[in-house]
Amino acid sequence: MGQTKNFFKEKKSWSIVKDRVVDYYLKPYTSKVLRTGRPIIICDCFAGKGKFDDGENGSPLLIAEHIKSHLLKQPDTGNKIQGVFIEKKYHDELKSNLSGYANVIVYPGSYEDNLKNILSFDINNNLFLYVDPYGIKSLNLSGFSQIKSRKFYSVEMLLNFNSAGFLREGCRLLKYEDSFADEDLTDYEVDDDVNTKEKMDSIAGGNYWQEILGSYYKGQINIYDAEEQFFSEYSQRINKLFRYAVNIPIKIKSTHLPKYRLIFGSDHEDGLILMADNMNKKWNEIVENQRGGQQVLFDYEFPDMTRQQGFDLQNDIRELVSLKPSGILLKDLIVALIQLYGITFPEKHYKDTIAEMKTKGLLRIDWHPSMTPTGKPVKAMNYDDYKITVRLQ
Ligand SMILES: C[S@@+](CC[C@H](N)C(=O)[O-])C[C@H]1O[C@@H](n2cnc3c(N)ncnc32)[C@H](O)[C@@H]1O
Repeated sequence: MGQTKNFFKEKKSWSIVKDRVVDYYLKPYTSKVLRTGRPIIICDCFAGKGKFDDGENGSPLLIAEHIKSHLLKQPDTGNKIQGVFIEKKYHDELKSNLSGYANVIVYPGSYEDNLKNILSFDINNNLFLYVDPYGIKSLNLSGFSQIKSRKFYSVEMLLNFNSAGFLREGCRLLKYEDSFADEDLTDYEVDDDVNTKEKMDSIAGGNYWQEILGSYYKGQINIYDAEEQFFSEYSQRINKLFRYAVNIPIKIKSTHLPKYRLIFGSDHEDGLILMADNMNKKWNEIVENQRGGQQVLFDYEFPDMTRQQGFDLQNDIRELVSLKPSGILLKDLIVALIQLYGITFPEKHYKDTIAEMKTKGLLRIDWHPSMTPTGKPVKAMNYDDYKITVRLQ
């Protein structure tokens, strides 16, 4: 518990990924989603103070600034975008940090107690949930499924899940002597005194975690495999709630256990493509800035799937295309690739690779219409304006 008390003293480098991802995503998200004609609620469920003590903006200020700049550009959409901030402890500081911002509201109290308020939002809204708790104890999976069952116009969720914290608490409850000692866990935001196995089951969406930790305890798997297995099961539950999900393990380079996992869920393929592209770009930008000496040490390992055995992009493209002899839509192909590769590549890399495979005679690409408005054959990999079908040559 004690390790959470200095969270807001200064913004740590590992918070940067989360923040950048949220900050960058909201702009394209807002412009895309407002085209539905329905309003947006951005709900920061574990909002914090708004600002870190070192002056850096926390997620509420990033969201409020985003709303502000949106309103400046499109004042006519004034009633169409709103920020809702839930905070149990620092609500007064948060309110004061948000004073002067339009279209923001603070709900004091816990996320659990405020769930009924989220469920009572008008279902005509598009809802973006940012879920960034210290630990896992408030993350009852059934809360998310209640929100999903309300059938809002759309729901997207970005969740920070401390899988190592979950497993450590699991070991404690199962009375397994845990051997996390090799890992530097000293600055994990741990408040994971969940207390009962039943509560852990409701967080995980099942008791599968007990068997995984049993294998770990018996020495059949190591803690890294246990974490992978656990999160793969957990992701399957998220995938039951959302059609598409992508996650990034945030790992310190010198260790192997993710510090946390950012998981994004959406029912919309555009959401998935946008978020994966965003996460890839932000990560690379942080590394670039660091090289330029503009930033605090960022020592996290890029989650590059191509380092794992069996991943070969051209092969995977060929395989996915061969499953649909009559042709697969370019967008569907990219969505399938993102689900395999996570944030390894920006979207452009998939398009370039597919175009290159066409040039090599490995793929055939058909555009509909096949001519541009000025009468030239279409070559652009632009699936918003053309129906693009890919098949084996
Ligand atoms: C990791 S911090 C959030 C940081 C924030 N996203 C930022 O970028 O500044 C988690 C916050 O959740 C608050 N909190 C803890 N338990 C909560 C609960 N059950 N419901 C709502 N807020 C809670 C804590 O007081 C803390 O401010």
